[in-house]
Amino acid sequence: MANLSGLARRRFDAVIVGAGGAGMRCSLQLANAGLNVAVLSKVFPTRSHTVAAQGGIGASLGNMTEDNWLWHMFDTVKGSDYLGDQDAIEFMCREAPNVVYELEHFGMPFDRNPDGTIYQRPFGGHSAHFGEKPVPRACAAADRTGHALLHTLYQRNVASRTQFFVEWMALDLIRNADGDVVGVIAIEMETGEPMIFESKVTVLATGGAGRIWDASTNAYICTGDGMGMTARAGLPLEDMEFWQFHPTGVAGAGVLITEGVRGEGGILLNCNGERFMERYAPTLKDLAPRDFVSRSMDQEIKEGRGCGPNKDYVLLKLDHLGAETIIKRLPSIREIAIKFANVDPIREPIPVVPTIHYQMGGIPTNYLGQVVAPKDGNPSAVVDGLYAIGECACVSVHGANRLGTNSLLDLLVFGRAAGNHIVERHATQREGHRSFPADGGQHTVARLTALDAASNGERVQDVANDIRKTMQFHCGVFRTGATLQEGVRKIMALEERAKRVSIEDKSKIFNTARIEALELENLVETAKATIVSAAARTESRGAHARDDFPERDDVHWIKHTLYYSDGNRLDYKPVNMKPLSVETFEPKRRTF
Ligand code: FUM
Repeated sequence: MANLSGLARRRFDAVIVGAGGAGMRCSLQLANAGLNVAVLSKVFPTRSHTVAAQGGIGASLGNMTEDNWLWHMFDTVKGSDYLGDQDAIEFMCREAPNVVYELEHFGMPFDRNPDGTIYQRPFGGHSAHFGEKPVPRACAAADRTGHALLHTLYQRNVASRTQFFVEWMALDLIRNADGDVVGVIAIEMETGEPMIFESKVTVLATGGAGRIWDASTNAYICTGDGMGMTARAGLPLEDMEFWQFHPTGVAGAGVLITEGVRGEGGILLNCNGERFMERYAPTLKDLAPRDFVSRSMDQEIKEGRGCGPNKDYVLLKLDHLGAETIIKRLPSIREIAIKFANVDPIREPIPVVPTIHYQMGGIPTNYLGQVVAPKDGNPSAVVDGLYAIGECACVSVHGANRLGTNSLLDLLVFGRAAGNHIVERHATQREGHRSFPADGGQHTVARLTALDAASNGERVQDVANDIRKTMQFHCGVFRTGATLQEGVRKIMALEERAKRVSIEDKSKIFNTARIEALELENLVETAKATIVSAAARTESRGAHARDDFPERDDVHWIKHTLYYSDGNRLDYKPVNMKPLSVETFEPKRRTF
């Protein structure tokens, strides 16, 4: 293992960590403006987790029926259970049509209507006229929208000469004495060699941490690396208690079945063959927001109306859509159902359960993508040199519950906004590289050395699996103070176990054992942030449902949680209820 003096070092204008939709949308802006930009990715860019997004991108194009960005904003604020920042939500919903048309011009193969416009389908929580009826707002490329998006952005980046560092894992941020971020230290996964990437700006676009859970729609690469780096750098994580359960993961397998199935007309049934969502959400029915649908499904199962021998799932019926629609609009869903549930949805319903899908919280940012952390009494102080975008960031446009299709929208809007802001600052301020600390990266090199020297420790996967089981059991769809507190104790004990892991087979191909051990540190940070924040929030809001505090408490809890790893400390900051140009949407009881 290299010591610090022997460490390779390269300089860039910008380093982006993560090559999913957010990272590549941002890098494209930077590369097109002539900046020297490096993008680091644990996997080949088109294998980033954005590839798994199925149903569409939310934008009020109004191609199928009348639509309006203000209705989209209303739905997003209400969907967030009034925890979303309304300035950022307005910005996102207004920008949505622009980023979709831009993608269209980049060559994105959207599905088309007979008149040539982009095809749009209804999605959960999206409505016309402020909640009156569902509206088709999801711009779709069959049920492979994320796949089409990633390939489009990758090709554009290649044409713009973005430099990709494929199979590189970023390990830590490097901050100087002023607290500015001046780059990252990363490891080449194949060789295990670390290198310093010095940069004027560092952009975290590392995606979520869905692998802190046992049952998850997330790829195995989603280990919360950006959040781990941020927490270790002494910066806060925001609203980590809010995790979305997607209503339709394949029972027993966790694979995503897009909400687009219900957008096309699919319905959920209990063991009596009843379309139970009509009882819970009379207007939007199966297309109510995800927190609502997931809780309703869980309620059906808890009350004995689940299906199958153990009555532990419900059924998603779509055979009535007809083979032609299923094959044309939902080809991957058919394939997934056949492979993972052994049913052909043209003839039989798919067994589904709510499954962890998305983190609403993350690294706190403003709507330009700049990371913010309270400093000297200023709750919105910017961390110079650091941006975060996409799922790892908390802007916060999703608040306590994200609407389907707003994730692809978020990564496009804020990836582009961060890119534009960086380019503008670069052009107007001609900033150079900030002072780089003599010991930058030292701590990380010491960690790597210690990891390589450790022996006879615990197996990484045993600790990681116990984290997942603990989070699933203690921090699930319905939570109580007692189970959460017990979960906090268990996760703290797992943090200690994670310090004692060792890699026995150091020659293992592509260093996968070493990489998994490094990912474990990030799993621990995000699991701690999640369960500590959840135990403290004594109300039910959006995806955070407490059996012991079943009501939303607007008097005490319209505020964002800030979690600091050091001492597992919590702080809070106000929600921005003031949009940029329109009236505030005041909190109301959510019915659908
Ligand atoms: O259901 C889906 O296709 C997922 C979309 C999303 O999470 O936005």
